[in-house]
Formats: sequence, structure tokens, C-alpha cells
Amino acid sequence: MPRGDLVRFIVNEIVLCYLSDLNDPGTRAFTVGEGDWPLRGFLVRQGGEVRAYVNRCPHAGHPLNLRPDEFLAPDHSLIVCNSHGAMFEIQSGRCVAGPCVGASLERVPIRVEAGAVLLDGDPEALARLYA
Ligand code: FES
Repeated sequence: MPRGDLVRFIVNEIVLCYLSDLNDPGTRAFTVGEGDWPLRGFLVRQGGEVRAYVNRCPHAGHPLNLRPDEFLAPDHSLIVCNSHGAMFEIQSGRCVAGPCVGASLERVPIRVEAGAVLLDGDPEALARLYA
């Protein structure tokens, strides 16, 4: 389905990314909402599964990435926080190494339809929830 048709098909939905634009494994940042406190998150794809997390480290609240769309360790097996080196499981978001072992990234609800990754919830409510 051409991308223009897909956009018309998915009305009133927030498309975070198209699967064709997300490597496996790979990550991509997104921002939903406007104003001073939008929801800043990232998608992570591994083994065909896509998950989304808030881009905020449970250690000190910093964004995890330094470079755009780069959230994985060099071997792509874990999510890494570039501030102090916390490492998180891709599947669960749980910290397995570094200064906040046992803490977790906050999951953002998404779903995949027709090759698009969609925010699964009211964008304003989610932005308030994760601000
Ligand atoms: S802010 Fe992420 S490890 Fe410190």
C-alpha cells in the first residue's frame, strides 16, 4: 500500500514510524504533543517485535541518547543510557547493569497496523502521564 494511502486509511491516529523506516535491530526517537512537555520516546525493534519507551532514564531522568535515533549498545543486544552507562533489556526495559539495576524504563503503548507503528492511546493523556 503506498504511504499516502496508508495515511488516509489511518485517520485520527498518531503514526510514530513506518516499519520500513525502522531497522531490525534498530531504534528511532519520536515526540508526541506540543508545548513545553511533549512525550519524548523511542521505538526499538528486535526480532520483528517493536516496543516503545519514554526517553527518560530512571537513574537521573536524563534522555538516554546522545545522537539522534541511537539507543542501543554497539552489539545491539541492550538499550544503553549514554549519561552513566545504565543498560536495559530490550524486551522488558529493565535495567540489568549500571547505577539503577532493577529499575525500568517506562513503556509507551503502541500497536502495529498495516506497516505503521501507532500510538495506542490518547496522545494528550499519554503526554500528561509521561511528562
Ligand atoms: S541518567 Fe542514565 S545512567 Fe545516569
